Amino acid sequence: MLLLCVKGGCAFVGATIGRPRAMGPSPLQRTRVAQHCRGRRPRRPVLQREYPSNVGANCVRPHFEDVAKKEIDMACIINYYNEYDEENRTASRSGQVEFLTTMNYIEKYLFPGAKILEIGAATGKYSHTLARQGYAVDAVELVPHNIEIFESKITDDENISVVQGDARDLSAFENDIYDITLVLGPLYHLHEKEDKKKVISEALRVTKPGGVVFAAYIISDGVILDDGIIRNKFDIREKIALGKLDAETFRTKLEPPDDIFEFVRKEDIDDLMQDFSATRLHYLATDLITRLVSEKINEMSDEQFDFYFKCHLAICERPDVVGMTVHSLDVFRKK
Ligand SMILES: C[S@@+](CC[C@H](N)C(=O)[O-])C[C@H]1O[C@@H](n2cnc3c(N)ncnc32)[C@H](O)[C@@H]1O
Repeated sequence: MLLLCVKGGCAFVGATIGRPRAMGPSPLQRTRVAQHCRGRRPRRPVLQREYPSNVGANCVRPHFEDVAKKEIDMACIINYYNEYDEENRTASRSGQVEFLTTMNYIEKYLFPGAKILEIGAATGKYSHTLARQGYAVDAVELVPHNIEIFESKITDDENISVVQGDARDLSAFENDIYDITLVLGPLYHLHEKEDKKKVISEALRVTKPGGVVFAAYIISDGVILDDGIIRNKFDIREKIALGKLDAETFRTKLEPPDDIFEFVRKEDIDDLMQDFSATRLHYLATDLITRLVSEKINEMSDEQFDFYFKCHLAICERPDVVGMTVHSLDVFRKK
């Protein structure tokens, strides 16, 4: 059960509108997929919003004193994505760099018949791309609004399922099922180390031994320079005054419900990963300086963009540049 809040009130919503393929599709799921395959569009209009400003997240907090804090935090995330156009986040040419880079690394570990789980799948950009390439894909997503869009995009040739769920608890899924597990988003929203550990632990549990997990993060230094100092999407002085940003080290200290997003540095990721039985295969910057120079990239000719992307791929794992990015990707193999 989840607490869903919209402006003006809160309501509990059922947590399951589908089941993992391991359990077989429910009749309800089949009906919903069939309805959406007939071309029904999502009812709710989506608003374009900058991402991730982390400011003015507009969370309407529940009024129930006895609701656990974690449920409140999830409600804030649901509110945020109800109004954010996630479907078009990576639509521009500069936005594509993160997607194309991540796909480039996923493709290194794909093989015929690979089974894939995407946790925090949003509207299904990765899931649908992989399902249309012939892979069996299961997806988990927290926000019903995103799931509606995900389902509306399912085509007859896809072997795909989507369920509502929380990345911290994948108990509906059995152990050791997937060859590739994608966690490209839930860790953007969890502030407590224990919560992050649950996500990694669950992702590893459902992955086969020898399978590969892809975990994405938002890197604080890239966001502060790009969205904060250069683009003024949030007020750096205000963040320092509020204690959310250290004026000397520029380390962030963010907390829900004001801060929907969590920003980290590579040292935090290394610290998180040290307790897990996994071998790092790659740690890379998925957008490097792309967002800082997005206007230039959007104006590039095809040839210029091809060179830019080729150069980006050639250097995105280099330790001397990897920190200067907004998004990073940790790729590791389950032992
Ligand atoms: C920025 S989007 C990224 C979507 C997609 N994976 C991508 O990389 O384009 C993050 C997604 O993670 C979902 N999410 C956040 N917290 C989650 C959680 N605890 N469990 C499952 N999904 C979650 C959000 O609802 C959102 O759809």
